[in-house]
Amino acid sequence: MVDMSVNFGGLRLKNPLIAAAGPITTNMDNVKRLVDAGIGAIVTKTGFTKNEYERWVGRKNIFPYKPVFKYQSLQNGRLLSLPTLSDIPVSDMAKRLEEIKKLNVPVIGSIMGLSPKGYAESAKMLCEAGADAIEIDLCCTIPEFTTTYRWAGQNVNFYPKKYAHLVDVVKDITSIPVGVKSTVSLYLYGKIIEALIRSKLKNSLPDFITLVGQLDQNPGVDLNTLQPIIPHIPTFGWQGTLSGLTYSALATFTSTLGTSRPFFSASGGIDNHEGVINAMALGATTVQLMTVILNKGPEIITKILGSLHYYLASKKITHIETLVGCACRDYIPSMALGKFMLERDTLYGKMFAEVLNDSCIGCGICESVCTEGAVKLDNGKAMINQSLCRACNLCVLKCPEKAIRLLNIELLDKLIDKYKDAPGIRSFREFFSKQKITWRDKLLLARNLRQWGLT
Ligand SMILES: Cc1cc2nc3c(=O)[nH]c(=O)nc-3n(C[C@H](O)[C@H](O)[C@H](O)COP(=O)(O)O)c2cc1C
Repeated sequence: MVDMSVNFGGLRLKNPLIAAAGPITTNMDNVKRLVDAGIGAIVTKTGFTKNEYERWVGRKNIFPYKPVFKYQSLQNGRLLSLPTLSDIPVSDMAKRLEEIKKLNVPVIGSIMGLSPKGYAESAKMLCEAGADAIEIDLCCTIPEFTTTYRWAGQNVNFYPKKYAHLVDVVKDITSIPVGVKSTVSLYLYGKIIEALIRSKLKNSLPDFITLVGQLDQNPGVDLNTLQPIIPHIPTFGWQGTLSGLTYSALATFTSTLGTSRPFFSASGGIDNHEGVINAMALGATTVQLMTVILNKGPEIITKILGSLHYYLASKKITHIETLVGCACRDYIPSMALGKFMLERDTLYGKMFAEVLNDSCIGCGICESVCTEGAVKLDNGKAMINQSLCRACNLCVLKCPEKAIRLLNIELLDKLIDKYKDAPGIRSFREFFSKQKITWRDKLLLARNLRQWGLT
């Protein structure tokens, strides 16, 4: 029997699958189907206070269509509308949350605001309605919306001070776990790490972070009609199978922050058990699913859980939690990556590929894949110019006869060992010395980074 339960930022969930914030949780029938299918927890659709909701919606009607609360097949016809941002104020959402709670499933209340006061009021309402945790939504991407309101959603990711302030404000009003859901792009990695350090300085680190690889997906065109699958609206929260950015963010954050970090939830492009395993091995404790549920219905959860169970049992893994971060142990902390790569470059010429002449059949695959022009066929055998070889291993991987090997690979192993446990603290100091912070913050930083275990 495999134990599928996880501790997620103080919440005990029976399994790591969470239904992400969005249209699936606005309809109670669908919620019941999710619970019957075995979902571990449910996030409500993001809500605003009534004031802020009216200020936003009243100002300009963003959605040309009324939301349609039913599953739509992308294969049959076009997807006309799904509510990407909130369709109801948080006071109504609180009532819905109370209903969902009756089904005995942990509920995470999702909030957004146009001001810190709005976030705090929304969080309070959902806490009073019985939320088990709060998720601050900093991922939604309606350009008109995020460019107009400085505190709205995705905007805040760009301002670590605001980010830390919001976490502080929401944590101040409740003792239940508080998490942040952030869109991550390569540009935002540094900003989010800085925000976490600032949160840590205020002793109000978020309990969890939901990392959303990218939310701005357009599912493309119908190849028969050559018309957009979602007409009229070029930006949409549909994700498809784009999970690479989610994985990259997880791997970077987990290897950089080590064990002294908030819990992570992964969202974005995960649509089967393999996605769940990838995300967990790279540091996520839970995953949040949306598109796959919209596409295939809530019952897909039972299927994913079954496949996960089968995989873990076949690997003799008795508790799913042991997967968390297991693939990150050999990553070099990103703050030390630059130096590692510089030193790795000095190994070119010392590490190189070599052909085992007897096994080579002269197929030429190695010559065609070599990016450096280091391989040439000579008399039906591959020849490697070792001074050009960058020891990338591609020819070794592609050779159908296993006739190529890398020499002196232990030099790289030694270098990896040297950097793998590279101290984060110095690089964090360097990183922070470039930011505009006061002396008091700098002193606090030195003390707290040590406490945070970044040494
Ligand atoms: C139609 C739609 C509406 C969404 N609404 C919200 C929302 O209100 N709040 C939020 O935090 N995320 C929202 N999301 C993002 C999802 O919760 C999820 O993080 C994202 O779609 C990535 O997961 P996926 O690849 O499984 O879809 C929405 C996504 C979609 C497609």
